[in-house]
Amino acid sequence: MTTPSLLILPGDGIGPEVMIEVRKIIDWFGAKRDLHFDVAEALVGGAAYDKHGTPLHDDTMARAQEVDAVLLGAVGGPKYDALDFSVKPERGLLRLRKEMDLFSNLRPAQCFDALADFSSLKKDVVAGLDIMIVRELTSGVYFGEPRGIFEEGNERVGINTQRYTESEIARVAKSAFELAMKRGKKLCSMEKANVMESGILWREVVTEVGRDYPEVELSHMYADAGAMQLTRWPKQFDVIVTDNLFGDLLSDLAAMLTGSLGMLPSASLGAPMANGRPKALYEPVHGSAPDIAGQGKANPIACILSFAMALRYSFDQGTEATRLEAAVERVLAEGLRTADLMGPEGGQPVSTSGMGDAIVAALDASI
Ligand code: IPM
Ligand code: MG
Repeated sequence: MTTPSLLILPGDGIGPEVMIEVRKIIDWFGAKRDLHFDVAEALVGGAAYDKHGTPLHDDTMARAQEVDAVLLGAVGGPKYDALDFSVKPERGLLRLRKEMDLFSNLRPAQCFDALADFSSLKKDVVAGLDIMIVRELTSGVYFGEPRGIFEEGNERVGINTQRYTESEIARVAKSAFELAMKRGKKLCSMEKANVMESGILWREVVTEVGRDYPEVELSHMYADAGAMQLTRWPKQFDVIVTDNLFGDLLSDLAAMLTGSLGMLPSASLGAPMANGRPKALYEPVHGSAPDIAGQGKANPIACILSFAMALRYSFDQGTEATRLEAAVERVLAEGLRTADLMGPEGGQPVSTSGMGDAIVAALDASI
């Protein structure tokens, strides 16, 4: 069997420093579990712009299409705020998502026991929380045409278009139902069918796809009500499926239920490649956090857990993924805390690399 290939794109801000910790984990799996990866690294976002004048070089795009999985850190920073829209760091990420056709974005929101006190919500509301948001990632208002800023009479008008085809809705719905089958067999679809035609179609198509999954209990909610229910009693949900923009908002909201954005991984999956693996990109949900970059304060856990998702969804290594997740849980239970996790009850402060080393030590203890 050929060694699976990984393309690492550390990106900007805290991206590179959290990725160094992920490299420690990848090396550990090679050394201790005989699980080897052929790892290459390239630039994305502002880092790529600085070197090549584009947030994603064509060679990097081509490489991303070939590898078994891409692991991305974060993109963006104030340094690039004034750049033209077409070369902003975020365009690099959006191009990867679009050209790899990564239509299904899995964003788990899981509350670790050790951090239940950390949420801005009451402990009993979030303790044990484990939900999965499936966000459509390649269509909708993020990509719909027409778009732009146009002259109309004597003023300008900004236009974006929410557009979904039946097949785009059906394929992401199918991936959400498949996931629900492996979890609690409950799926809630969120749109705004009360005001948007695209929402009406969304609801119809999800319902049709659901006929193939009679075991899954399907419900529908308007996305605004969904946001309210997510903060009121999030444990009523198992899997949520929603469009690109609502998914962007609702996943940040769900992330905060767990206490820190620094904890949450994501997987963006597309169609299967010739070798049966899905096209895939894994990235932490947090951004580039330029305010703390380079100070050893960043929490590497979201990025490490993104690699755990890669083990599970790209490399069929569910047991090893669980081992890594358990190692993270263990260091948190032992009280180790990066700055973002330092609540009123304290804990043992550790740096970015201190957290990575502790997780490696916990992995060692697991074998
Ligand atoms: C996300 C981010 C991106 C998005 C940005 C960086 C383009 O907020 O992954 O949620 O809006 O999709
Ligand atoms: Mg977002």
